[in-house]
Amino acid sequence: MNAVMGPGKDASAEAQALLAVEGHHADMLRHLNGLVGLLTEAVEAGDTDAGQETQAALLDWCDKELVPHALAEEGPLYGGPHGMPEARLLVDGMLAEHQVIVSLVDELRTADGVAAAVAAGAIQRIFALHLDKENRLLMPFVVESPGLSLAQAVEGLHELVGESAAHQHGRSHHRH
Ligand SMILES: [Fe+2]
Ligand SMILES: [Fe+2]
Repeated sequence: MNAVMGPGKDASAEAQALLAVEGHHADMLRHLNGLVGLLTEAVEAGDTDAGQETQAALLDWCDKELVPHALAEEGPLYGGPHGMPEARLLVDGMLAEHQVIVSLVDELRTADGVAAAVAAGAIQRIFALHLDKENRLLMPFVVESPGLSLAQAVEGLHELVGESAAHQHGRSHHRH
């Protein structure tokens, strides 16, 4: 692993950053799956109150966690690989997925009943597919590229590594 690292790149910091983002992705997906499951159940049961309540909770989570996560990645995490010919097409494809996710969140905002459950299910599946690309393709590429550093790309960004990991290293910046 060290052989492919450029000067000044710390393999253990890179591995730690990869684990932190993967962990945050897993937490996000678990939370999303839970809310989408509840919304689907409420719609299936014809329980309008529970459906609206869960839809509101899901929208709130999307606005506060999912969309800020995507936006935070587009600068430091996507910027480096986007500048390299081997990764440019991958990053372009992943940026397009961010846009699809953002527009599905807007669809969820105004949808009702079955349409809300359909939008929620689409967000869930696309996010799962998207984060798998990030975990298995994009971040390993950054870790293995001598000129890039995953640890630097995610440093202090609680939107990318989660609150606890950002705090652990004492470099979180609070925006709220
Ligand atoms: Fe992303
Ligand atoms: Fe992500």
